[in-house]
Amino acid sequence: MDRPTDAVPAVVHAPEAFRAACDQARTEGRRVALVPTMGALHVGHLALMAEARRRVGVGGLVAVSVFVNPTQFGPAEDFARYPRELDADVARCATVGVDVVFAPSPREMYPAGDQTRVHVAELAAPMCGVTRPVHFEGVATVVSKLLALTGPCVAIFGRKDYQQLQVISRLARDLFLPVEVVGLPTVREADGLALSSRNRYLSPADRARAAAIPASLRAARALYADGERSTLALLDTVWMGLAGSVDSVDYIELRDAMELTLPINPLSEETRAVLAVALKIGHTRLIDNTVLGEVDVTLD
Ligand code: PAJ
Repeated sequence: MDRPTDAVPAVVHAPEAFRAACDQARTEGRRVALVPTMGALHVGHLALMAEARRRVGVGGLVAVSVFVNPTQFGPAEDFARYPRELDADVARCATVGVDVVFAPSPREMYPAGDQTRVHVAELAAPMCGVTRPVHFEGVATVVSKLLALTGPCVAIFGRKDYQQLQVISRLARDLFLPVEVVGLPTVREADGLALSSRNRYLSPADRARAAAIPASLRAARALYADGERSTLALLDTVWMGLAGSVDSVDYIELRDAMELTLPINPLSEETRAVLAVALKIGHTRLIDNTVLGEVDVTLD
């Protein structure tokens, strides 16, 4: 099917109708890609959609889900005030040639009697799992449901949510799901701040302070490039870079980039270690990361 650029995507609310649209595309021999989101779309999300199009080709079907998933928010988190702007999101999707936007209600994704949860054990436990104990179970469950409805050959995620990407890759592998899980580099603002739907919560003064986050990761990368392998020294650089700019730190950690276990100190030359931070500026929780021992096109 040839579609004109900037054509408005179809918007589907009912899971069965969405499944039927994806089934139909596969029956026609089209490749199907899925980009799961919670909406309030920004350029980082659009980059995932452009890559989805690149991977399935002009004749493929690019599906985007827009769903603020209640099960991944804790009781004290921002589920109620998370931005919802479906019309604007559909218009943004049109600019990158998305074919179908799936926007179900919570009741449609979790109908009465829904009991099943997908739990990824070790990968979901540390880091964000410590302060957000239900978060990754909610993510793993909703992504499993979305993959089951869509049946895509490829699903695209951002490396900004590094632990989430590892959890989803593992669930796809463990459940033998016939889908390639792809992680793309973090898209950043000019000062390096990772784009996030939550950045809009920041006041101008808080937004200015947030530039310390990528700056502190860059400082650690520079130290690593100079040969520093002590995990304490690398973590200390991040602490120093953030001091005075953030209101609280959830964690600053170096972890094995695949297993998210604590790496041996000092880091060996073979270790790929993810340096990940979660913190608050004002009431806004922000996360960021970089993998040491690997080129980071977004920070180098
Ligand atoms: P959301 O925060 O909307 O993010 C959707 C996807 O966009 C995720 O894969 C995320 O990693 C990616 N993304 C966000 N900011 C990015 C940036 N600056 N650069 C590149 N990619 C970026 O993550 C979720 O939604 C949800 O947990 C979801 C997976 C949809 C399950 O509900």
